[in-house]
Amino acid sequence: MHINVNGLDLAYDDRGEGLPVLFIHGYPLNRRMWAPQVEGLAGAARALALDLRGHGESQVVPGPYWMDLLADDCAAFLDALEINRPVVVCGLSMGGYVAMAFYRQHAPRVAGLILAATRSGADTPEGRENRDKAIALAREKGPQAIAASMLPKMMAPQTYQEKSDLVASVRQMMAGLPVEAIEGDLVGMRERPDSAQTLAEVAVPVLILHGADDQIIPAKAARQEQESLHTAQIEIIPGAGHLLNLEQPERFNDAVRRFVQGIKDGRR
Ligand code: MLT
Repeated sequence: MHINVNGLDLAYDDRGEGLPVLFIHGYPLNRRMWAPQVEGLAGAARALALDLRGHGESQVVPGPYWMDLLADDCAAFLDALEINRPVVVCGLSMGGYVAMAFYRQHAPRVAGLILAATRSGADTPEGRENRDKAIALAREKGPQAIAASMLPKMMAPQTYQEKSDLVASVRQMMAGLPVEAIEGDLVGMRERPDSAQTLAEVAVPVLILHGADDQIIPAKAARQEQESLHTAQIEIIPGAGHLLNLEQPERFNDAVRRFVQGIKDGRR
């Protein structure tokens, strides 16, 4: 489905009923990465997955895609769907950076936060240099080169060796992202603020999910997030890397289902 948000044409999926859970994808991906969640969780919640500006089937516009800007797109998306009640925001990796920005700017709209394969810290100087190198690579050699350089690290080594269909579909998502959007994301992530303080102030339930074998953001980042928070549930999923929701969909969905049920029951 498509919807006009802030003058942009954005694509999304909307399945199920009840408490809305907004799924925000990572870089350099799109909403199709949430297919097992949109399918599997529709019985427990209203699963919403959005292609952020420039990604998937959404309109491509020049960047930078600041995390705050992407968070505002998410809020305007909820407005466009006339969703006024607080929602659960679930972001993976860059989607987690957007989820934290969303909380910073729109806290009353958040019933709960799910932070998957993400981190609260800003980029280190080395991380910022790597963003610049990736921008140069994308400009010179295109999205396929970005996909080739990242793909083996996006999943646990075992997943990469054994699940060729999954590897192929992730490669397709990555290689299909226009250079303009790659650059938009990379500059936005490079300049994102440290969110530790945001997490320290979070007053809604938080669930942290991380793959034990994450090679992009090691699992210790999840422990640091938990330390920043006053209360958080944490689950480190074995046999999963950075794309834990695709690698271990049952484990991921069970954790989300329990968390959503807890919010519905008013538990923290
Ligand atoms: C992502 O998966 O969204 C990105 O790899 C996160 C990052 O590069 O910081």
